[in-house]
Amino acid sequence: MPEVSVALLPGDGIGPEVVAEAVRVIDAIAPDHDLAIDWHEHLMGGISIDAHGTALTDEVLAACAGADAVLLGAVGGPKWDTTDPDKPRPEQGLLGLRSGLGLYANLRPVRPWPALYDASPLRRERIEGTDLLVVRELTGGLYFGERGRQPDSAFDTCLYTTKEVVRLAEVGFRAAAGRRQKVTSVDKANVLETSRLWREKVTEVAAGHPDIALEHMLVDNAAMQLVSRPSDFDVIVTENLFGDILSDEAAMITGSIGMLPSASLGPGTLGLYEPVHGSAPDIAGQGIANPIATLLSAAMMLRYSLGAPEAADRIDGAVEKVLGQGHRTRDLGGDLGTAAVGDLILAAL
Ligand code: IPM
Ligand code: MG
Repeated sequence: MPEVSVALLPGDGIGPEVVAEAVRVIDAIAPDHDLAIDWHEHLMGGISIDAHGTALTDEVLAACAGADAVLLGAVGGPKWDTTDPDKPRPEQGLLGLRSGLGLYANLRPVRPWPALYDASPLRRERIEGTDLLVVRELTGGLYFGERGRQPDSAFDTCLYTTKEVVRLAEVGFRAAAGRRQKVTSVDKANVLETSRLWREKVTEVAAGHPDIALEHMLVDNAAMQLVSRPSDFDVIVTENLFGDILSDEAAMITGSIGMLPSASLGPGTLGLYEPVHGSAPDIAGQGIANPIATLLSAAMMLRYSLGAPEAADRIDGAVEKVLGQGHRTRDLGGDLGTAAVGDLILAAL
């Protein structure tokens, strides 16, 4: 049996609880798919700040770089919240991993589950048929530009290179080729210079993909269209901060941010897989967090990094079945606990 190694970063808050269910489910089905997973757990985020004074140590970054995939829970919490620029922050661990591993493309699929149509704050007829993919640039823009603080001012810099825009756009167009052949590039080209470069380069990339339709949309308009006609979108390509904001907005189409998985990919097969939601410190340790976003992220890991797409399909199918049976965690109006969801998924498998 081929042995694959996965770096496990449970992180903070509800992270360890949701990750535990993903490990349980993967371990249960791995043998059926000829996989043996070697899990290596590491500290990252606030828990690493407590132990080492930094959110991501060089050792953990190196361990992740040497693994076949990285599965992450969540990072952050009030304990480490600070506005002091000299204090370490849990999020620095996540950003350090993304850039340190060169994971420039973040894939966030948004597909409302028919069983949850009525859990969305949007009316059923608006969300029916929605199946979109946010392809968010993840290692550039405002997140990684030069920043600073003076006594009475502060600044963040947004910088994009041609190379960064082109490689991200390529991911979007390739994804669209296997979907509904449409790319919506989101920018703020009426104001920002980086957006004008973005628009120009995405248009050039489109020329190499004549079968894919490209539309450009300003980010404010995109925010509106996402809730008024979400089913018209196929692939959305956008820069880091716009993608961060739009993907949380799009998550509500599925009824809960507790449902949204993500994959962060670079040039090779190594990927970082994490739920889109945060560490939810308000419910941490209570065993009530929804583990489905993490289970679906684990499915993406099986698909993109571990070469086991059938195993991924099985997890997706089990989630659909469990939801179809009417089981709901609290974020979706039910009262099911985290481990109970894992039990139901295992039973469905
Ligand atoms: C996300 C999160 C992160 C981000 C935070 C935790 C730094 O919101 O993955 O969307 O802004 O990228
Ligand atoms: Mg976010």
